[in-house]
Amino acid sequence: TSNAMWGGRFATGPDAIMEAINASIGFDKRLARQDIEGSRAHAAMLAATGIITDKDAEAIREGLLTVLSEIEGGKFAFSTALEDIHMNVESRLKEIIGEPAGRLHTARSRNDQVAVDFRLWVRDQCDAVDGALLAIIQALLAQAEAAADWVMPGFTHLQVAQPVTLGHHLMAYVEMFARDRSRFADARKRMNESPLGAAALAGTSFPINRHMTAEALGFDRPTANSLDSTSDRDFALEYLAAASICAMHLSRLAEELVIWSTAQFRFVRMSDRWSTGSSIMPQKRNPDAAELIRAKIGRIMGANVALMTVMKGLPLTYSKDMQEDKEQVFDASDNLLLALAAMTGMITDMTANRDVMEKAAATGFSTATDLADWLVRELNLPFRDAHHVTGTLVALAESKGCDLPDLTLADMQSVHAGIRADVFDVLGVQNSVASRTSYGGTAPSNVRAQIARWKGLL
Ligand code: ARG
Repeated sequence: TSNAMWGGRFATGPDAIMEAINASIGFDKRLARQDIEGSRAHAAMLAATGIITDKDAEAIREGLLTVLSEIEGGKFAFSTALEDIHMNVESRLKEIIGEPAGRLHTARSRNDQVAVDFRLWVRDQCDAVDGALLAIIQALLAQAEAAADWVMPGFTHLQVAQPVTLGHHLMAYVEMFARDRSRFADARKRMNESPLGAAALAGTSFPINRHMTAEALGFDRPTANSLDSTSDRDFALEYLAAASICAMHLSRLAEELVIWSTAQFRFVRMSDRWSTGSSIMPQKRNPDAAELIRAKIGRIMGANVALMTVMKGLPLTYSKDMQEDKEQVFDASDNLLLALAAMTGMITDMTANRDVMEKAAATGFSTATDLADWLVRELNLPFRDAHHVTGTLVALAESKGCDLPDLTLADMQSVHAGIRADVFDVLGVQNSVASRTSYGGTAPSNVRAQIARWKGLL
């Protein structure tokens, strides 16, 4: 038998494989709440504009609430033959209230219906991600505050570069996650226009009030062009782009935690709650959560690329290709929230090994720049010459198998006669970080000021 919703011109129903490739109900049932919200707003508007009667609108309203409670109660029988969430809901509505159900779809199409449902869903996700980002920022702030003056090596090329503080390092991620928040907020703002009432593509001849439905659904305004309204998936792409960047940040932090928790580094220890063991090697504490967070960027960025690729060649307006938008966004969204929650838990529980980090900070001639700066400041050497002198001293220390502070004053003076004993003051890692007071630098006083600034902003 042909489809009850659109089968008027068909003699037979679809092939089973046609039905399988066409149906989206397996995943778009996640839009049930948004679909019903959109339909309720639409029905109320149809009544307010006199397009349907108040009595029918009331029956629709009641019926939709029943459908919603059936779905939320797990009592709803989803049907693949009915393709998607929109037709599943409407068909059940008809079973419950009869004839008025058929009036709901006046001045509407599944094209604007799915566009509005999906926007509402993605908008909710922006809010959920914002909350999750706030939580991770707070976890980072708490750890940064405790470690504002804990010295560790700062790296470039993963080679020891200059001493920094752990607090400063963690605050770098606060900056990143705060930018992520603003990216999601920005995307949310831009997506907050209602496509409902664009109908199939051209608008409608019914005297609808799109401002009314937009307002009822919490949108700032209706979208301005009916063709764009039904063919636009920028909102999903912007969400995925912001999610990709956020996942990239999570992945970098995860990578650092993986490295830092190795036996070679021992900078941090993950709590038991966030570690896993090995079935053969009894000593193991593996950072599986960090590794999985590091991997999540693969599917999240993959979703972004997948949807961009789906959209890039589509002529206006709706094509069924666009049905492929939802699984990508659902998967990316679920995994982003999971990764954020896992990282928040790991950071909260993590213990840093202050002594190990401070010792590591003193290796690799990490205060060589401080020595060069001293030569500039105290002996008035041009920086390039100071760099050369310091390089010679590093080579000397290396040949003697010691660090810079272990050289004798005589060693120093053999390279540059003007060097005085007070040079040793700048070779300690504590003094090094304390001296980096330039705005944004790693001095503990700066780090504390930044923590206070962020706490004030949140
Ligand atoms: N299930 C469809 C989707 O997710 C709904 C829109 C269908 N519209 C249509 N004209 N076939 O995109």
